[in-house]
Amino acid sequence: MAINHRLRILLCLLTFKTGFSAEISVVVQTGNSVQLHIQTRELPEFDDLSWKNDKSEIIVRYTSETKRVRLHSSYKDRVDFNDTTFSLTLKNMQKTDSGLYTARASGESDNNIVTYRVSVIDAVEAPVLTVNSNWLSGNFCTVNFTCRAHELMITSSYQNNRCSPEETSTSSDNHTLRLSCSCDSIICNYSNPVSWKTDTEKVNKLCTVNLST
Ligand SMILES: *[C@@H]1O[C@H](CO)[C@@H](O)[C@H](O)[C@H]1NC(C)=O
Ligand SMILES: *[C@@H]1O[C@H](CO)[C@@H](O)[C@H](O)[C@H]1NC(C)=O
Ligand SMILES: *[C@@H]1O[C@H](CO)[C@@H](O)[C@H](O)[C@H]1NC(C)=O
Ligand SMILES: *[C@@H]1O[C@H](CO)[C@@H](O)[C@H](O)[C@H]1NC(C)=O
Repeated sequence: MAINHRLRILLCLLTFKTGFSAEISVVVQTGNSVQLHIQTRELPEFDDLSWKNDKSEIIVRYTSETKRVRLHSSYKDRVDFNDTTFSLTLKNMQKTDSGLYTARASGESDNNIVTYRVSVIDAVEAPVLTVNSNWLSGNFCTVNFTCRAHELMITSSYQNNRCSPEETSTSSDNHTLRLSCSCDSIICNYSNPVSWKTDTEKVNKLCTVNLST
């Protein structure tokens, strides 16, 4: 699906500022790319500009005099560095790539320009919507159902084409299970900051099936 190929980033919050440097939280889906920007128009004068990770590896070092770009051997095949904007693109991100990424300009002094806190998380798995029971009584169609994903669960019922307003259940790690109904469908939507998936049932069809049995 298109979602898997799209770059999905959430610039969550500017957590704090220290001197030149701001820390920015980014959430990336496993396998996707993330582009880290300098975030400032006015760089201090520098001889060298580098991006490093929190293992002290220099992912890229750019020397302004020679315009030379030097990439770290273990990042060679999976980064793009733009020597105009100085932004760094990390490709095919894996969970082990989660951590801090800092841009630093060095000249007469060292300045941290920006720090990103990158979290790489998997796309959600599809939720499961199960119909526990459905029956017709006179003109009333009633459906009891359960929406489930991992440790989250919502149970509700749908009566005569009306169900309770949207119900939400959220886990501690920002996974959300949402149950909603339109005039004839029940939608179970499981999401996290980088992705969402749904399971849907047509209610009218459920009741018709019941009628014919
Ligand atoms: C660098 O970024 C600029 C501005 O976004 C863009 O026009 C240019 O094509 C990029 N260069 C490379 C090599 O990607
Ligand atoms: C449907 O759910 C309602 C309320 O939760 C419950 O009282 C009822 O017994 C359920 N009906 C069936 C057939 O499971
Ligand atoms: C959940 O989201 C909040 C705000 O977006 C963030 O501060 C927090 O770190 C997240 N928790 C986890 C476990 O990702
Ligand atoms: C599912 O939830 C996500 C996150 O809240 C939302 O962006 C998306 O539009 C929802 N999808 C449907 C079909 O409701």
